Amino acid sequence: MYLRHLQVGDFRSWERVDLALGPGPTVFVGRNGEGKTNLVEAVGYLATMGSHRVSGDAPLVRHGSGQAVVRAALRRGDRELLVEIEINPGKANRVRVNRAALPRPRELLGLVRTVLFAPEDLSLVRGDPTERRRFLDELLATRTPRLAGVRSDYERVLKQRNALLKTARLARGKAVETLDVWDGHLTDLGAQVLAARLRLVADLVPHVADSYAGVAGEGAVAAGLGYSSTVPLAGDGAALPVGAALPSVEDLAEAMRARIAERRGDELDRGMTLVGPHRDDLVIHLGPAPAKGFASHGESWSLALALKLATFALLRSEGEDPILVLDDVFATLDAERRAALAAVARSAEQTLITAAVVDDVPVELQGTRVEVGRGMALVVKDAVPVGEGGDP
Ligand SMILES: Nc1ncnc2c1ncn2[C@@H]1O[C@H](COP(=O)(O)OP(=O)(O)OP(=O)(O)O)[C@@H](O)[C@H]1O
Ligand SMILES: [Mg+2]
Repeated sequence: MYLRHLQVGDFRSWERVDLALGPGPTVFVGRNGEGKTNLVEAVGYLATMGSHRVSGDAPLVRHGSGQAVVRAALRRGDRELLVEIEINPGKANRVRVNRAALPRPRELLGLVRTVLFAPEDLSLVRGDPTERRRFLDELLATRTPRLAGVRSDYERVLKQRNALLKTARLARGKAVETLDVWDGHLTDLGAQVLAARLRLVADLVPHVADSYAGVAGEGAVAAGLGYSSTVPLAGDGAALPVGAALPSVEDLAEAMRARIAERRGDELDRGMTLVGPHRDDLVIHLGPAPAKGFASHGESWSLALALKLATFALLRSEGEDPILVLDDVFATLDAERRAALAAVARSAEQTLITAAVVDDVPVELQGTRVEVGRGMALVVKDAVPVGEGGDP
């Protein structure tokens, strides 16, 4: 798939911009702070309805404005889709596809598929488990949109159960019957999330090994993935072998129920839910050791890249290239890693690249450029230039 047209209004630093895009690589160049990342952030928002840089939506709206808009014409095979999102911080977003409003914004997930690699991705390897859970859950929502609903139902149940645990702590015992009901909802939904995450991790394993070998070069130790869970059956963090047998949803629900029963005393003491996918972690392995706490800076960076390239390979293997977005990453890679990334970037149906200095981008990717500066973005070369203020 590829974006044929992108329009943003009051998004970050952009009052308005209109861009005609095409398949193949496009490089956004311009000085620091001119708004290059802001543009690809808008592209990422079409896919995940979130930003790779901040957790809430408020920073995405231009200072002084109440609402941001992202519109895109997306090509999928010979179909074209028009996607429009109104970002309304603090209120529900509004999403239209081919001019028809979606009853729920999250029904958009899965339609526009991107794989975005950015400096922030180092936190996939070095950061908190939250980052890795978000990575897994975003990819789940892309591959299997139904799971976005399961995930948000789980969050809702979790909140209510936590509130109940807090009151139960004060009222010691009284709320415990109600707790049993919530335990049922929590395990039903939690087991579905767990099963889906395990399937996803297992599916990523061979791609991560291949991508890391490609990025780190001959002779590098092997990279792998494991899942570390508060539900014993769901994984202890050890690297999953290729083709690992996975537990069923029913077995996971049973194991989760049993573990919750064991930990009820602790949960009442602490007033929070201690068992479930919201406490789990994706474990990235490098050779025999977990990468976190052991891998060097360069190794961590290669692992983050390998994880994103594996995501790209997995989505591609399921039928359609996602849009590859590379935000400011070439300058920090050495020659070997740069070449590995360039090979994938060249082969993708569409690659959007940002760089402050165009020479940092491998020359074979430099064909089409968008020059970004002074609040304008102009397409040059194969270009249909549309500046600020044009209509789509
Ligand atoms: N909500 C907002 N409203 C107005 N301006 C914003 C908003 N959010 C960010 N900006 C501005 O956008 C600019 C940063 O844009 P961006 O991150 O896209 O730059 P960039 O071109 O990618 O730079 P670099 O080359 O350093 O990565 C900053 O000047 C920042 O002040
Ligand atoms: Mg940037």
